[in-house]
Amino acid sequence: MVENELTTGQPEVEERHDKAEKRRKFLRRIGWGSIAGFIGINLAAFVRFMYPRVLFEPPTTFKVGNPVDYPPGQVNTQFINKYGTWIVRQGDGSFFAMEAKCTHLGCTPNWLEAQQKFKCPCHGSGYYISGFNFEGPAPRPMDRFKISIAEDGQLLVDKSIKFKGMPGKDSNQMHPQSLLRV
Ligand code: FES
Repeated sequence: MVENELTTGQPEVEERHDKAEKRRKFLRRIGWGSIAGFIGINLAAFVRFMYPRVLFEPPTTFKVGNPVDYPPGQVNTQFINKYGTWIVRQGDGSFFAMEAKCTHLGCTPNWLEAQQKFKCPCHGSGYYISGFNFEGPAPRPMDRFKISIAEDGQLLVDKSIKFKGMPGKDSNQMHPQSLLRV
């Protein structure tokens, strides 16, 4: 009778033992997983710290070549992509640097050589070569940047100094400091 009880109890004990072992394995896995996760997060934070996020912006001052390279009465569009700026040499030989940004909603107008005007592709604003707005929804002339001569004789534009176009005012008169005569 006793022998019978012992033989029937054996599988139950083994089963309990198996369950306990499985639970231990499971908990061990969770433990190691947590440790690995903790190390991973810290490692990622360390790498992130070693390579800080830096915003590379184009410099605010840049040279645009020699005055002799600019024929009078022309708009130079070669610095649009890099600096968002036109270099304009007026018929009287004076220079100014103009921000290539429509004063309506900020699109980049196109210089139309044949029509001697800037035309915004977004809502049709038009500007004379001086940047004065004469058609479309633009509320004021386009802005200008400071332009001067660098030590090496090249034209130097400084985008940190801006001459804001005023509604109804010609920037040549409003901002004579925006003009460079060489
Ligand atoms: S953004 Fe130039 S006309 Fe609207």
